Amino acid sequence: MTKEKQEVVRIDQLVEELNEHSYRYYVLSQPTISDAEYDQLFRELQALEAAHPEHVRAESPTQRVGAKPLEGFATVQHRLPMLSLDNAMNEQELLDFDEQVRRLLAKDGHDGGEIEYTVEFKFDGVAVSLLYEDGRLKQAATRGDGTTGEDVTSNVRTIKAIPLKVRAAKPPQGLLEVRGEVLFRKKEFDALNEERQARGEESFANPRNAASGSLRQLDPQETAKRPLWFFSYGVGIVDSSTKGISDLARQPLAHAMKVVESLGFSISPGYRVVKGAVQLAEAYRAAEAERDSLPFEVDGIVIKVNDVALQGRLGFRQRSPRWAVAAKFKPVEAVTVLEDIIIQVGRTGALTPVAILKPVRVGGVVVSRATLHNQDEIERKGLLIGDTVVVRRQGDVIPAVVAAITTSRTGKERRFVFPTKCPECNTPVQREEGEAVARCANGHCPAKLHNRLVHFASRDAMDIEGLGDKMVGLLVEHSLVKDLPDLYSLKVEALQELPRMGELSSKNLVGSIQGSKGRPLDRFIFALGIRHVGSKTGQVLARHCQTVERFLTLSEEELLLIAEVGPETARSVAEFLGEGYSQKLVHGLLDHGVAPAPVVVDTSKAGALTGQSFVLTGTLSGMSRKEAEEMILDRGGKVSSSVSKKTSYVVAGESPGSKLDAAKKLGVSVLSEEEFSALLR
Ligand code: IVH
Repeated sequence: MTKEKQEVVRIDQLVEELNEHSYRYYVLSQPTISDAEYDQLFRELQALEAAHPEHVRAESPTQRVGAKPLEGFATVQHRLPMLSLDNAMNEQELLDFDEQVRRLLAKDGHDGGEIEYTVEFKFDGVAVSLLYEDGRLKQAATRGDGTTGEDVTSNVRTIKAIPLKVRAAKPPQGLLEVRGEVLFRKKEFDALNEERQARGEESFANPRNAASGSLRQLDPQETAKRPLWFFSYGVGIVDSSTKGISDLARQPLAHAMKVVESLGFSISPGYRVVKGAVQLAEAYRAAEAERDSLPFEVDGIVIKVNDVALQGRLGFRQRSPRWAVAAKFKPVEAVTVLEDIIIQVGRTGALTPVAILKPVRVGGVVVSRATLHNQDEIERKGLLIGDTVVVRRQGDVIPAVVAAITTSRTGKERRFVFPTKCPECNTPVQREEGEAVARCANGHCPAKLHNRLVHFASRDAMDIEGLGDKMVGLLVEHSLVKDLPDLYSLKVEALQELPRMGELSSKNLVGSIQGSKGRPLDRFIFALGIRHVGSKTGQVLARHCQTVERFLTLSEEELLLIAEVGPETARSVAEFLGEGYSQKLVHGLLDHGVAPAPVVVDTSKAGALTGQSFVLTGTLSGMSRKEAEEMILDRGGKVSSSVSKKTSYVVAGESPGSKLDAAKKLGVSVLSEEEFSALLR
């Protein structure tokens, strides 16, 4: 063999060997060589590759970092939607889930016997889809809104727990999509925050945000510095000609996951299959007991029906499968001191009392603030400043002060006096009859602008990475932004002038602001911060209007005709749209290039019930009231709460109420649940 040939053979050998060591370290947690030995092999490979650049392999560990910074992220259309999960909040709800599964299947001819479920942890990170072609990583995307995500391939390539080439003697031919969660481990999260604090940077609120922020860096070199991990929880599209892979999507889930594991991916520790309700409950308790000993944060377990044929029969709701559920763990509590109560002025001018707590770790997250909602709440709980209090946190939910431990009082505690003037602009506050909330009535209150911007940029709204509370504070303070549209004319040069903003972070920010222009209409509507319009109402309105132009023309009357919109919301939206200022604001955003993606209604189903109105009464066994309503709305129908001559159908479930009598009296057609299901099909 010539020297050249030998070196090329050595390159291949080193790539294999180094990748095997990565696998042992990141997936098996059983390294067999020291870091120093690994580095030595890595450097040998680098030297050989430098001498033979034409023999650098795509899956070489030297090729994880190296891609150039991006201007922004391209979007990726998921071939199969990335769904979310319904929650069970305790053991009883988990058992209810099992019961519902059996009931639905029994109606479909199943023998009613015990069901097999897979059990795995619910990771608290960021969902990603990894697309492998002929065994090589081709594309990585975030979940996004479930249909469209962001292309984060260059960043994902830097994650060592993700193989660039799957582990197999013969790489599987064709497409294989592995799905899972990118996450931060607890100790590395703490270290990252310590470093950031030392540098005077904002710390991440939790490991999930840290993972998300790291994955969405425009410069892969930055992502490479973050110790991210990956756990797979499923497969997406499988279009392979390789035996054992081609039928992966039809195999029992647990089998598919074993194959995924054998291809070099980590799956949930303790992944297993259980049968029936008793084992399910046992697994839930066992997992909860294990929670604190895990190196990463979990907030529950995920249960999935193991048999794929049964999954098919159970089907889906709007956004989540009926064959899976996330069973959340009990909220975690801690005891600390209520050091002070301050007032925050929200984007709608609402004055919210916030508890300032002696920092305390609650389930892996340090909590130093908790909302107290309003004045009445403080009085109801009898909280005094200086009290020892119990703080609770569950999953995503904002931490809450549960109660004061009155036996710990020393007599030095003091009552909190609610202000009569806005603490930000000194305008007298107003509290309307029957409302718990006091508000600042000043339209130009600087705190409102600040919070409107924070809300606008938030995760469920326009999702602008890097535009958090501190950044907004800087922009407002330096008068770079006077209203929402100004965001879109921010220039890198101007941002660079701000304290602690470098060229890269300025570019990143401008990139993520510009990247938000095409967010779907529902998020845009939610982002406007209209009172009573949450994320869900944003979706309802977007589905109704489909385009932003149409949204701007909504009247209170029309809003009231939308089944899921109550009178308070209708009034609030109509008031908002009626103000010249709001119209100017929305047009200002559009003029700056914001172009909310219109909502596409599934045309295969849409229109089937157009012009027909439904009233639901009694309990449906196969779907919840909400699901039934959504299915009617999806198909262009209307749902109303009272029966009139104009009602097309009354759907009567078990133990129907007086609406059934009304239907009979008015001669309105009555549908059984079966007839209703048939109509939907
Ligand atoms: S399965 C068909 N399994 O939870 C179900 N999801 O609420 C699709 N997640 O977007 C998801 N751990 O980011 C599944 N073991 C697990 C999970 C998991 C965390 C996240 C995932 C998903 C969200 C759904």
